[in-house]
Amino acid sequence: PQRVRLHHLTQMKERSEPITMLTCYDAVTAQIFDNAAIDMLLVGDSFGNTLLGYGSTIKVTLDEMLMATGAVSRGAHRAFVVADLPFGAYEESPTQAVSSAVQLIKAGAQAVKLEGGVRQAATVKAITDAGIPVIGHIGFTPQSEHRLGGPRVQGRGEEAAAAVIDDAVAVQEAGASGVVLEMVPARVAGKITKILEIPTIGIGAGDHCDGQVLVWTDMAGMTGWSPSFSKQFGAVGAALRDAATSYSEAVKSRAFPDESHSF
Ligand code: KIV
Ligand code: NA
Repeated sequence: PQRVRLHHLTQMKERSEPITMLTCYDAVTAQIFDNAAIDMLLVGDSFGNTLLGYGSTIKVTLDEMLMATGAVSRGAHRAFVVADLPFGAYEESPTQAVSSAVQLIKAGAQAVKLEGGVRQAATVKAITDAGIPVIGHIGFTPQSEHRLGGPRVQGRGEEAAAAVIDDAVAVQEAGASGVVLEMVPARVAGKITKILEIPTIGIGAGDHCDGQVLVWTDMAGMTGWSPSFSKQFGAVGAALRDAATSYSEAVKSRAFPDESHSF
């Protein structure tokens, strides 16, 4: 299958063909999502919450992101792979940001994502100038959850909406190739999608975006819990538990291994 590249994403926006994105953190899952023809895989720092048990994205390190990015890029041959710059890997200076972004690209990502609009415009520009595509991330930005007062909708009310729109324009003008809108009112996300030339990818941002992204463990129903804006399209967690229970019962009752599974 043909590799998804930046210009395909732009073409999809022009054709009003929705772009699909899922988070992904390892090669096995990447291969499964590639076979499902998911357009973009995000090696998100949600890795920290979903798989590493940190309870937040704040603790995730660049080394952890590099390992996950390498694994995803080895498993995915079609999808466009985006890697998150983790908290602490880009805030100090544009120079630090470029150095971290270079490492993620060397690990196999095709683009990097970072959080912040107007306040990160110089960093978006520096990374783009280094030849690395950047995806912005505005609205609710989990790495600054303490400043934002936890997960809450950003852009409610005229003034707040204008600020989110300013952020969107700022990342585009700084050279970003796309932007994630997280927890933004559908009306505001729709307006941004109309204004911008680059694709918008929404999560909790309504149905007017050019694409949608979900955290895969939420999407697949791994834990039984998911945020209100997400949707469980499967019950993979229950299926996995059932498989483990069946295996356990078979071993305890000496039904497994039988002759056909022995040498
Ligand atoms: O890390 C992540 O999963 C993300 C998405 C929520 C966009 O950044
Ligand atoms: Na993230």
